[in-house]
Amino acid sequence: MIPLLALFALLPLLHAASCSAPRAVCNPLLPPGYLSPTFTSSRAQLDSYAQKSIDSLLARTDHKNGYFKDGGGFWTAQNGWTAVADYDRLRGSKVLAARVSAAQDLLVKTSTTGVPLVNEFNDDAGWAALANLRAYEAYGEKKYMDRAKVVWEYLTTQIVTEQVLNDGYLKSVKNPDNKISRTCNGKSMLGGVYWVNGGTAHPDQAKDAGVNAVSTGLFALLSAELCGITKDKAKYCSKGYRSAQWLDDHVVGPDGLLWDGVHGTTCKITDWKFTYNAALYIGAYATLGSLTSNATALLLAERTAKESLKTTQWNSPNGIIKEGAGDVKGSDDGIGFKSVLVRALYRSYPYFKDAGLKAAIVEYVNIQYYGLTQLDADSKTQPVEYGRNWAGPAYQGSTAHAQLAALDVLNAITLNPKSAFLKAEAKGMTVIKTQPRVGGC
Ligand SMILES: *[C@@H]1O[C@H](CO)[C@@H](O)[C@H](O)[C@H]1NC(C)=O
Repeated sequence: MIPLLALFALLPLLHAASCSAPRAVCNPLLPPGYLSPTFTSSRAQLDSYAQKSIDSLLARTDHKNGYFKDGGGFWTAQNGWTAVADYDRLRGSKVLAARVSAAQDLLVKTSTTGVPLVNEFNDDAGWAALANLRAYEAYGEKKYMDRAKVVWEYLTTQIVTEQVLNDGYLKSVKNPDNKISRTCNGKSMLGGVYWVNGGTAHPDQAKDAGVNAVSTGLFALLSAELCGITKDKAKYCSKGYRSAQWLDDHVVGPDGLLWDGVHGTTCKITDWKFTYNAALYIGAYATLGSLTSNATALLLAERTAKESLKTTQWNSPNGIIKEGAGDVKGSDDGIGFKSVLVRALYRSYPYFKDAGLKAAIVEYVNIQYYGLTQLDADSKTQPVEYGRNWAGPAYQGSTAHAQLAALDVLNAITLNPKSAFLKAEAKGMTVIKTQPRVGGC
């Protein structure tokens, strides 16, 4: 990179006139103010710290239920185990297999509905199924696949179908105040997935008429992934498409980002925009588009991915995600949202066709890694524990919740080829060099 930069300095006119610069300094998909960090340590070294970071999370496992102590609840635990299993998959190792297996065997017993891995929140079930698919990919054990399929079958009972529209209700959430509208905003509600299922642990929520981006996006992604693994397109891909199209019709805004959900009765849109809703949409359409050779679906995924990299909704001016920032002792759900975006980007990366987008994702991941290690880690040179404020200003401590969210960035670093790690022998440093991006394009 350094010789190219030197050459670049000799050709200012060429730089101004075109975008022939190396992407590392001039990717038009990333705003000019974004950082441009480069690695000065070896990949092996970075991996050794990532392993310590995982060990630090695992030390906080709650052996009663498979949760993590100060790690949020069921859905965050499942996201933590997702990242742990994917760490093994990405490295072709099985060193964490026993830990994942023990945790999932406990988590399966926490059901409050009688259906394994299903509590009163349909989105929680989706996260659990995806975590089990990650374990299946990493370890090949049938039990994980069987569990994911059981959850998928359950979730098919939570979709807005013709039957639900005719009845006016999803039976388990039947309440005089939450009759489902046949259309909202002029578009059919078919294919949306209810956020809650009326499970008894939260009877007050039985009258919730929310058809949400997260529950629908999770079902779309889960369907897409099951389609890929089983090759049963008629069964899984078709349902994935229908739910992804519900997202298009109801919660995808003009910028390609997603709102949080639709009230089934009033059609009122909850217009929060979170990383993880965009992430599920990106993952679902990238997977479906690739499996069914659908260029339109891939373009939809790429469009939302591009906007995710540059939106000021959750990115700081230097490119570090600021969503979920706050008191490190707090435990709100937003802490873990951003990691789902990072995960969707690295998992969808192989499916994307746009080379500029792929290069931008690698840079974006590096920026998040810079934020984590230099602005929100227990050590800048030997980082093990991470906080929730990736954009800084300074490390205040870690919780299991913040720690498990950071693991997705450590996983995503595998997108970087070994050649990006300049010094095989460097000691004690991870990312240290960074500079503002040189101009825009
Ligand atoms: C490709 O995906 C788009 C977006 O969901 C959809 O409208 C279209 O029907 C799909 N094409 C095929 C051949 O499945």
